[in-house]
Amino acid sequence: MSHLVAPSILAADFANLQRDIEMVNQSEADWFHIDVMDGVFVPNISFGMPVIAAVKKHATKIMDVHLMIVDPDRYIADFKKVGADVLTVHYEACHHLHRTVQAIKQEGMKAGVSLNPHTPVAVLEDIIRDVDLVLLMSVNPGFGGQRFIENTYKKISELRKMIDLSGSTAVIEIDGGVTDKNAEKLIETGANVLVAGSFVFKSKDPNRTIRELKHLSY
Ligand code: DX5
Ligand code: ZN
Repeated sequence: MSHLVAPSILAADFANLQRDIEMVNQSEADWFHIDVMDGVFVPNISFGMPVIAAVKKHATKIMDVHLMIVDPDRYIADFKKVGADVLTVHYEACHHLHRTVQAIKQEGMKAGVSLNPHTPVAVLEDIIRDVDLVLLMSVNPGFGGQRFIENTYKKISELRKMIDLSGSTAVIEIDGGVTDKNAEKLIETGANVLVAGSFVFKSKDPNRTIRELKHLSY
């Protein structure tokens, strides 16, 4: 499959959210990436259900919701209700990850698991066949606009091997500091989905930036 591009709404202009959503609708982007932060799991608060429901009203593409919250089990059904198609939880925030993944699937969503930069991919070995997506954080979660952590390439290679050997169908998503400088190498190393926040929304022509991330020459 050719790789997917998921602009992160966190970097959009919230006072012109509908405009920015329409831009993504009309672009070559594949998914909307939606970051939920609770001020506990990460040192920042972003937005919750009402904003996601408002995005859903206009969005014509897959809603890829990334939960940076403790105890995500409490809200799985609510995220389904407001329009999530893919729901990703953090390995570090779940006591019973297998149960959480099953609950997400039971709600009819794709289940993703995310790893912080310091968490080795090996912790996923016994759950890799159950997940639809693994999101590797390539910055410390909590803020957009941070610098890409180079160790991510090593983690992608290891995860690629694990997925291919296990027969898992999980896709690898990379989140944090993605730009035209690292996108090609990320895909070459084995990533399938690129999240990009500031690089897209702070650029002069976001539509064109999305197109550039979509048409890499690898
Ligand atoms: C960070 C979020 C990211 C963020 C990426 O905690 O998970 O999705 O929006 O932003 P950039 O692309 O600016 O690093
Ligand atoms: Zn994210």
